[in-house]
Amino acid sequence: MQMKTWLVASVVFLGIMMVVMDPMQAQCKVIWLFGTPCREVSVTLVNQIKAWKSKDNCETGGERCLYELQFASTFFIKALHTSRLTQNVEELSFTLYPSETSSACRVVGVSVSENWSMLDDNGTNYCTLSNLIDGSGLTKVEGFKEYTNEWICLEHSTANCSIY
Ligand SMILES: *[C@@H]1O[C@H](CO)[C@@H](O)[C@H](O)[C@H]1NC(C)=O
Ligand SMILES: *[C@@H]1O[C@H](CO)[C@@H](O)[C@H](O)[C@H]1NC(C)=O
Ligand SMILES: *[C@@H]1O[C@H](CO)[C@@H](O)[C@H](O)[C@H]1NC(C)=O
Repeated sequence: MQMKTWLVASVVFLGIMMVVMDPMQAQCKVIWLFGTPCREVSVTLVNQIKAWKSKDNCETGGERCLYELQFASTFFIKALHTSRLTQNVEELSFTLYPSETSSACRVVGVSVSENWSMLDDNGTNYCTLSNLIDGSGLTKVEGFKEYTNEWICLEHSTANCSIY
């Protein structure tokens, strides 16, 4: 119950942020829950960003490559992702919130396209975030949950992350 209130509050807060923020850039926000401590989630994410630095992992297509780590700590991670096909750049951030009552971790991920004229992104910003979560195996962590919607994450429901 408490968890639910906390989540709803987060989603409402993110919705407000979205309205306040400039609507001219394609962007996406996602909230994830993991039943594992934030420091483990952080290390896993950072390792995945580093592992996908070069183009090598995209030889058979997709966008699981060309990530660049900019800042890493247990509670905040910043990175860039360059699209292999369009050269467009997305700015990513992950903010990690440890649960006060258990060893769970809540993560708020944000991706924003640097290109201001790109209003439809085919779910690029969603995939840039979710590819990392998926590729790192974090989707298999106990208690994994993902929350987002079309208001805070452009074209999320139709995104094909094996392409973008
Ligand atoms: C921004 O996106 C538009 C539309 O996709 C594209 O035509 C343009 O070349 C892009 N600009 C940059 C600087 O990448
Ligand atoms: C989105 O997909 C359409 C159809 O495949 C394509 O024409 C368009 O360039 C794509 N836009 C981006 C930003 O990738
Ligand atoms: C996503 O794209 C891949 C590669 O083009 C394709 O094989 C797959 O069918 C697509 N998935 C969906 C759900 O459209």
